Amino acid sequence: MATAAEITATLPKKPSNKVSHIPGDNGPPIVGYTFHFLKDFHGLVNKMAARYGNVFRYRAIMQDVITLLGPDANEFVLKDADHNFSSKLAWDVVLEELFPNGLMLRDFDNHKLHRKILQGAFKKNVMEGYVERMSQLFDVALPHWKTDQEIHFFDNIKKLLLDSGAQLFLGVKMGREAEKVNEAFIAAVDASLAVVRIPIPGNTWWKGLRGRRYLEKFIGNLVAQKRASNGNDFFTQICHAKGDDGEVLNDREVIDHMIFLLFAAHDTTTSTLTSIVYRLAKHPEWQQKLRDEFNSIGVEHLNYDDLEKMEQTSLVFREVLRMHPPLPTIPRRAIRDIEFNGYKIPKNAAVGVVPLHTHYMPEYWTNPYKFDPERFTPERAEHKKHFYQWVPFGGGHHKCLGLNFAEIQSKVFLYHFLRRFEVSVKPGYEMPFQIVPLAVPKDGFPCTLKAAQKH
Ligand code: HEM
Repeated sequence: MATAAEITATLPKKPSNKVSHIPGDNGPPIVGYTFHFLKDFHGLVNKMAARYGNVFRYRAIMQDVITLLGPDANEFVLKDADHNFSSKLAWDVVLEELFPNGLMLRDFDNHKLHRKILQGAFKKNVMEGYVERMSQLFDVALPHWKTDQEIHFFDNIKKLLLDSGAQLFLGVKMGREAEKVNEAFIAAVDASLAVVRIPIPGNTWWKGLRGRRYLEKFIGNLVAQKRASNGNDFFTQICHAKGDDGEVLNDREVIDHMIFLLFAAHDTTTSTLTSIVYRLAKHPEWQQKLRDEFNSIGVEHLNYDDLEKMEQTSLVFREVLRMHPPLPTIPRRAIRDIEFNGYKIPKNAAVGVVPLHTHYMPEYWTNPYKFDPERFTPERAEHKKHFYQWVPFGGGHHKCLGLNFAEIQSKVFLYHFLRRFEVSVKPGYEMPFQIVPLAVPKDGFPCTLKAAQKH
């Protein structure tokens, strides 16, 4: 019998559109639901679910997608005990040329092998090292943020995380070099959303491919030096990481994984911190709770153990990821004919699960539209009804490798940010979210910082 990897290798790049037996519709002629998908993804899913139930199809961006809603569906698709779904085929459509061979673009045994090796770069002792360095970086940068006037938080945090990412991930010192790396990286990320994928000098795709080549060269030139060093940035860790049989990654693999890691980490954490600070600006009582928690820790530079003490901050982190998961939907491709709840999912169909929808299901969450971090306390533990009801980091084989890093970074940032500033928004302000491909503010999130009272 053919293995899952062998079957996947025989499938065409484009998904099958033979899904008309699934409840749903194509939407407006030619474009289908593309506009709704891009402008109001949550609304589209809610509308389709109300009309067709928890299994439906819709057409957007020339693809028919079978959507499976709810925690059982998340488990079926993400846990994927029987290897029915390919992550590679689904993600390749968007990312293959700019971020090839990253972990999400690998499947089954090959994915397992690479994931095992990369896990070495995410060990606790490595994470401990990051806390101190992040703490120093944020402490140096934040005094330069403007107070007593409106700023765009999103632009500020994006820049800060890019600069600190260049140091934490690549071990690159700040300055002209880091700027060039950041520019190349942004060009590649922007191109991943390009509709026109033909390089014409000056267009987004052309700039993206050029950015990718710059990153490859830059990282490639450093591999030998990193292999010989013992730094505690991700780059050095990945050069040294070993699999069960003691194998290390070759240079090409190191380059591909590094560029993918930058990609997987950057926009997701930028999105998360923006949403957290937005919710805290709307809920000054929670802002003060966190500030009190931080002031009771009260050290100049945090260490790893201090993070354990941030219980209120953990609640906020979870609640914000529930309300605003950076990745609203996770795509897969069926690699065989399968069945879910009586519905036949044909081989090569595009399939999507939707964390954003699950996170608002009233069967699992009381008052889901309310910001209520205490739903995650041990007493209430609303998130414990189903293992797959809170899935901002996905689950199963491809569950986010950087989830601890993301939490650490958020806590360290908030520690320095809230001890220094009080953040507020205009009365009645609601942040307009652009949901796909990633949850970000459409307006850059205007807010005002003022110096927090010292304790
Ligand atoms: C709050 C921030 C983050 C969120 C919400 C997030 C979310 C996700 C999700 C949903 C997936 C699964 C995608 C799928 O199954 O197709 C994923 C995978 C991944 N994430 Fe994250 N991520 C975050 C931060 C990070 C960071 C900081 C890093 C690296 C330092 C990272 C590295 C990865 C990697 C390597 C994978 C692929 C894992 C695999 O395929 O085995 N992520 N992330």
